[in-house]
Amino acid sequence: MDTTLITGATGSLGGSVARMLNEKKENSNIAVLVRDVNADKAKELEALGFELRQGDYDDRASLVSAFQNVSQLYFVSGSDIANRTKQHENVVSAAKEANVGHVFYTGVSMNDIDTNSSLYFSLKVHELTEKWIKESGLKYTFLRHNLYAEVIPMFLGSKEQIVQSKMVYLPTENGRTAFVPRVDLAEAGANILANPTAFVNKSVELNGAEKVTFEEVANYLSDITGESIAYVSPEIAEFEKVMTENKVPAEYIGMMSAFGEGIANQVFDTPSSQLEDILGRKNQSVKDFLAEVYG
Ligand SMILES: NC(=O)c1ccc[n+]([C@@H]2O[C@H](COP(=O)([O-])OP(=O)(O)OC[C@H]3O[C@@H](n4cnc5c(N)ncnc54)[C@H](OP(=O)(O)O)[C@@H]3O)[C@@H](O)[C@H]2O)c1
Repeated sequence: MDTTLITGATGSLGGSVARMLNEKKENSNIAVLVRDVNADKAKELEALGFELRQGDYDDRASLVSAFQNVSQLYFVSGSDIANRTKQHENVVSAAKEANVGHVFYTGVSMNDIDTNSSLYFSLKVHELTEKWIKESGLKYTFLRHNLYAEVIPMFLGSKEQIVQSKMVYLPTENGRTAFVPRVDLAEAGANILANPTAFVNKSVELNGAEKVTFEEVANYLSDITGESIAYVSPEIAEFEKVMTENKVPAEYIGMMSAFGEGIANQVFDTPSSQLEDILGRKNQSVKDFLAEVYG
């Protein structure tokens, strides 16, 4: 029987893909890659009927074993930013050794970017991974995701924080981003895994139907909370100073500055998207998403 193996299934994206695919694909085996087969999240997946396969992106040999007889591999990009280049190299070379049938890799959808920017430094892993997958000769589909809508609350904090400061404070200028709620990206992935033929050796750009500025986000938040929320886009140096004074951890400040600068430079204002066609509907709007989080 064909086996589809979903990585990152104990996490948000992979977990949704596994559950959604399970509802679409009858008579096929869906396995999940887990680091610890005894972890609660792994046990939950096993109880739902998924086959557990142990593997760690840091341990190439574990991946070669886990990838045996896999016809489709949904490869969720790693979350360990410092080590994921080596991890992705391990995943691709293990997939080649195990002769996986088709690799579906979750990368990023964005415009060209200055290779000296700090954002390029954290995102170039996607370019490299796509290159390695192509060079492997395996069948592939690159699922290029724009920024998750979940990034907005990650940057802005809780409702209490927003209502107290009455401000969206981010160095994004008037940059637009085609945000997509993560669950819609998961559904697109599950749809493609269920009907992959048209997507063999293709890149798929998965961007939101609207491209919003953080000024628009502030306006949505004003409507949702009933408070007047202003938008302030400081210079990067000022932003970093204020965040440091507010004891935000340095790694978060670096990440928000890098993405803020990228958004200001229209890196995520991507020109085209296949998301609506693949979902058969528009993705959830940013305002509706924010209403669920902050309403
Ligand atoms: N486009 C965007 O805006 C955006 C935003 C955030 C993240 N991302 C990317 O999207 C990916 C998925 O996002 P998410 O929200 O689903 O993340 P998440 O909930 O943190 O899930 C990450 C998953 O990766 C697994 N994992 C981490 N390190 C691993 C390793 N060494 N070997 C095997 N599995 C490992 C985790 O397993 P454990 O349960 O064992 O920890 C977990 O299942 C992230 O990893 C990141 O690369 C994109």
